Amino acid sequence: MAEKSFKYVILGGGVAAGYAAREFGKQGVQPGELAIISKEAVAPYERPALSKAYLFPEGAARLPGFHVCVGSGGERLLPEWYKEKGIELILSTEIVKADLPAKTLVSAAGETFKYQILIIATGSTVIRLTDFGVQGADAKNIFYLREIDDADKLVEAIKAKKNGKAVIVGGGYIGLELGAIMSINNFDVSMVFPEPWCMPRLFTSDIAAFYEDYYTNKGIKIIKGTVAVGFTADSNGEVKEVKLKDGRVLEADIVVVGVGGRPLTTLFKGQVEEEKGGIKTDAFFKTSVPNVYAVGDLATFPLKLYNELRRVEHVDHARKSAEQAVKAIKASEEGKSVDEYDYLPYFYSRSFDLSWQFYGDNVGDTVIFGDNNPKSAKAKFGSYWIKEGKVIGAFLEGGSAEENQAIAKVAKLQPSIQSLDALKSEGLSFASKI
Ligand code: FDA
Ligand code: NAD
Repeated sequence: MAEKSFKYVILGGGVAAGYAAREFGKQGVQPGELAIISKEAVAPYERPALSKAYLFPEGAARLPGFHVCVGSGGERLLPEWYKEKGIELILSTEIVKADLPAKTLVSAAGETFKYQILIIATGSTVIRLTDFGVQGADAKNIFYLREIDDADKLVEAIKAKKNGKAVIVGGGYIGLELGAIMSINNFDVSMVFPEPWCMPRLFTSDIAAFYEDYYTNKGIKIIKGTVAVGFTADSNGEVKEVKLKDGRVLEADIVVVGVGGRPLTTLFKGQVEEEKGGIKTDAFFKTSVPNVYAVGDLATFPLKLYNELRRVEHVDHARKSAEQAVKAIKASEEGKSVDEYDYLPYFYSRSFDLSWQFYGDNVGDTVIFGDNNPKSAKAKFGSYWIKEGKVIGAFLEGGSAEENQAIAKVAKLQPSIQSLDALKSEGLSFASKI
């Protein structure tokens, strides 16, 4: 079987891979030095589009429109860009074996790839209901969303089951974004999740109440505090009903499941140090193995601002960690160094006409401010998180670019406050004057 050899290999062809390639392009890479190996069939793209504009009933986003790096306002790297730079895009190629001591990767088809420096960027995979043996969870028309192939299958089902019933399992990012998208596609939508309010890993009950009321006003039924324990299918094997733990049964033509992600570290088990479910790195995304870097969703890295190791499953970090790793690689080749990664966590989401941003850390006391009436024509509200008398996190729905910059600044600078009551009444103007 064929063997190929590269100076640099990026394993994975997602967001981090694309931004790493752009950084290699900026820093200078010789033709033939760099390869990206991806099991996807397309060049790196902005994954967030898959749960948003890709699923719009009209004017949907399609490739090549959202290849990286358009999501951060950068140039769009089309397959020709890689060709021009002499960067080899090895697509539709799944790596099934990694031997780090031998610096070798082996694909499902048996090809061998050798490298001098490896950047692991395999991201996350979805947690499946079949993983915990939910009865009937392998029925047709039960969908997960991670890669473009998943989104294409969902698009086909949306067309085939026009104006049908959709059940969304999960109340996190996928749950909220897909609940909205299915409603926009004119489906009768129910959302089911076990917690007392949606997006509990970030939202306070106050924040969640706004989104739940907004979604309810759009006709979405929200069922909390229970889980899907089984599915029934019709004679074609297509999902028909969702059975809930509390005994209720929901009719369904399409089910979309978003019950979390899992970092794809399997290939490297026992070969590299892990921490908090991810591959442990330093502030330059170097792993415990020399010449092996890990970036994006699967890296557990030192979050300098909070002096602890964290894993972050969001696109902004995927982009920035990839750039940091490539800068560090290039600098070390020249005997130079780069500054430590100093990341300010940034998450966002969009659904219907809503759009929120969050910066910082969501621990400590909270205050909510602004107009959080879901019936307002243009609701604008936010929340601060306060720890040891300092504001360390900030959330804003409906903010302008300047206002979002202002809350980011607050989360970064961590100003002290007089009192929670004063902060609440100052609201957004507290951030604007920092
Ligand atoms: P990513 O998942 O992008 O890429 C991993 C790549 O590795 C894939 O191409 C995969 O096929 C490949 N791969 C894996 N194993 C392999 C193997 N063995 N061999 C070969 N290739 C392999 N974040 C955010 O901040 N805002 C948002 O709005 C959204 N929206 C959003 C929507 C949807 C549908 C998803 C799934 C995710 C988001 N995210 C998000 C999260 C964000 O997209 C995510 O954090 C980044 O894509 C992570 O980038 P990575 O490059 O680490 O993984
Ligand atoms: P998530 O962690 O955001 O949400 C998982 C949700 O699953 C939980 O909130 C919970 O409500 C629910 N859940 C857990 N077990 C359940 C069960 N048995 N039945 C019903 N619900 C159950 O994960 P996700 O929404 O699946 O997203 C997957 C990945 O994609 C994450 O890494 C996420 O960060 C990323 N993503 C991010 C965005 C964004 O940043 N805007 C958008 C989409 C996806």
